[in-house]
Amino acid sequence: MEKNAKIYVAGHRGLVGSAIVRALEREGYTHIVVRTHQELDLTKQAEVEAFFASERPEYVFLSAAKVGGILANATYPADFIYQNLAIATNVIHTAYTYGVKKLLFLGSSCIYPKLCPQPIKEEYLLTGSLEVTNEAYAVAKIAGLEMTKFYRQQYGCDFISAMPTNLYGPHDNFDLQNSHVIPALLRKFYEAKKNNQRSVTVWGTGSPRREFLYIDDLADALVFLMNHYSDGLHINVGVGEDVSIRELVEMIRRISGFEGEVIYDTSKPDGTPRKLLDVSRLFSLGWRPKVSLEEGLRLAYQWMVDHYDEIVAREKR
Ligand SMILES: NC(=O)c1ccc[n+]([C@@H]2O[C@H](COP(=O)([O-])OP(=O)(O)OC[C@H]3O[C@@H](n4cnc5c(N)ncnc54)[C@H](OP(=O)(O)O)[C@@H]3O)[C@@H](O)[C@H]2O)c1
Repeated sequence: MEKNAKIYVAGHRGLVGSAIVRALEREGYTHIVVRTHQELDLTKQAEVEAFFASERPEYVFLSAAKVGGILANATYPADFIYQNLAIATNVIHTAYTYGVKKLLFLGSSCIYPKLCPQPIKEEYLLTGSLEVTNEAYAVAKIAGLEMTKFYRQQYGCDFISAMPTNLYGPHDNFDLQNSHVIPALLRKFYEAKKNNQRSVTVWGTGSPRREFLYIDDLADALVFLMNHYSDGLHINVGVGEDVSIRELVEMIRRISGFEGEVIYDTSKPDGTPRKLLDVSRLFSLGWRPKVSLEEGLRLAYQWMVDHYDEIVAREKR
């Protein structure tokens, strides 16, 4: 991408979108185009057409999506499949119609088959049944990935797809009703320390293993891929190593300074025993993550502490 190229970042206020904007600015890109959800609803085809007709972006990072935790996915499956299908079809097709030079679509490691071999290779997609708790979301995301592949095949579009592992960092969702495991734990330990609680309860046995990528590393990888990857096969983005939930809990307990008891509520689900991406394809291109889990957790914890009042106020609204 030329440094003055017109680059549209969809979903620029989200965890991923905001990190992509930070990475592009850090790397000296000067012409970034953004719209809030209120300004441009990507499920509305006419609005998407009008936006592309007036702005004519050269590059597109499609990091807008309806995402949520297990509860939200189970409660609103129709919204998850409709909105994510509509966002993908509207943006990918209109990008083709207006001659976008390159588009990057985002999938997620939770759309791989629930019981596939570990570590997970790109080729394992669509080789087994999906995790039921987020099936609606997964089907819509898989359709988006396949669209980039078939628009490349039929029209020669340089559209690519990235498949990130679990992400965490600044601007994450810290709402305990529907957040992912790291923001939930960071908040629980912070509040336990602040309120002198005797114990913190963690879901499950603590034995599942998970891979986590710091959000600014992900954004760095996505800009790298936009500049160095061109293929119909989606590409995994991760760190290539995982930790047990128990090890993760211990790291966060230490960072928060909480000295009380940690209780594992084994009546709660563990989810899949392990989910680790095979990142050899990405690493063979020369990319490596820069932020260790320990350092990333410290940065995410400090960001949450600095924005705690804002986070709580937003939930009360
Ligand atoms: N978070 C993770 O751990 C993770 C892991 C792997 C992959 N990913 C992928 O990364 C992408 C972004 O996820 P995220 O975690 O950054 O989610 P997020 O923080 O919820 O951000 C999504 C953004 O999209 C916007 N958006 C949603 N629906 C829209 C619509 N109809 N029109 C316009 N904007 C809309 C949202 O705006 P509003 O908030 O105003 O609605 C929000 O700013 C997703 O494709 C997801 O699959 C995420």
